[in-house]
Amino acid sequence: MLHDVSDGLRPLLDELARIAALPLERGETLPARAYTDEDFHRLEHDRVFRGDWLCVGHVSQVARPGDYLRTEAAGEPLVVTRDEEGGLHALSRVCRHRFMDILPPETTPEQGSLQRLMCPYHTWTYRLNGEYAGQLAGAPMMNKVDFDRAACRLPRYRLEEWNGLLMVCADPGVPPLAPQLAEPADRLAPYGLADLVVAYTDRWDGVPANWKVGFENGSENYHHMGTHASTLDTLVPGKDTVVDESQGRWFSMYTPFTLDGADPAAGGDAAGVPRVGTLIPGLGERELSGMTVAGFFPNLVMALLPDSVTFVRWVPTGPVTHDALVTVLVPPQAERDPGFGAYVEASRRQFEVIQNEDLVAVRGVQRGLATDPAPSGGRFSHLERPLWQFQRYLADRLSATAPKGQLAGAVRDVAPARGERGQATPPLTPGTR
Ligand code: FES
Ligand SMILES: [Fe+2]
Repeated sequence: MLHDVSDGLRPLLDELARIAALPLERGETLPARAYTDEDFHRLEHDRVFRGDWLCVGHVSQVARPGDYLRTEAAGEPLVVTRDEEGGLHALSRVCRHRFMDILPPETTPEQGSLQRLMCPYHTWTYRLNGEYAGQLAGAPMMNKVDFDRAACRLPRYRLEEWNGLLMVCADPGVPPLAPQLAEPADRLAPYGLADLVVAYTDRWDGVPANWKVGFENGSENYHHMGTHASTLDTLVPGKDTVVDESQGRWFSMYTPFTLDGADPAAGGDAAGVPRVGTLIPGLGERELSGMTVAGFFPNLVMALLPDSVTFVRWVPTGPVTHDALVTVLVPPQAERDPGFGAYVEASRRQFEVIQNEDLVAVRGVQRGLATDPAPSGGRFSHLERPLWQFQRYLADRLSATAPKGQLAGAVRDVAPARGERGQATPPLTPGTR
């Protein structure tokens, strides 16, 4: 349900509009209230997370007919299913009887295979095929009451598969996603995202910071020289990052590996696991020689490396808390490698180190934002161009008068997650062979 913009929010939205109109050379940080205010948080929920496309997983998680993936978007529990004809559907998991979660995490795995969807509370069942997906199939003991079975179905979300990413949208009025992302699709094509598979996922629930603090941290490499001085910065130095001059709802940047990092034979972790895993087939010289970071507003950032693609989503759970969801993709050949298990373990360890470093920054920034009087007027480096772009996106979505998707014809909508760790700079090249 859309909430009206309260009068108390007007000055904040006016300030957002002013800041979003500044050129990068004079760009400023968002007002601190944008990271703490309850009403602003609600407006973001309505106009950003329920009003745009949100990533909810990867296509390899629902590869075969009957496969399902439990996920969520904009606070709504969802299940993504693949039907017998190969079609994908995003359905609400809220049973239409008395609103039980149809796939409760207490008793069902996050992903698996299903013949049909049955609510475990009173066994109402729902169809999964084609245009009937979500339609009530059976409801026992309901024949003695006046009940319209035909009108009973689970709400469906729009779903687009974009380069292997499962993208959903709650708002029927929002423009399709693919045309908005044609340019990054070309840029990321060498990685063949749709052909990769999930090596592992991780999540940090309840990170004590506004979701934007996490997303912004993951959207610049400038902080490598501080936060990750002895880790990431030795392989992909922040100072060497070149940020592309993209427009609209996405950004990208490229950082060449240092010589040490570029040599797969160099080093390895303490357990002796090599740093580079099975290479993604078909990469060119550029992709093999550095890291690309690409982000899609509102809340998705990807780190693309020669052996893996890691994507992170920051999901608001309140004005000053969020969950961070991490998904690491590798080429399918990697899973057949005898060293795959060691690779995954090394990757997880490495990610943990980086995330803990990021968490220090994310928590620290939120503490700074919460001070009274609130700080304001922070300035950007040219390396923080994605944050400047993000402000324009937010101003576009949150403006009371702007038509939907005014910015580059985009949309809105989202979903939450969790995270007691934070951020997002993807892992270093973790490794195996
Ligand atoms: S709540 Fe689902 S069958 Fe009763
Ligand atoms: Fe980081």
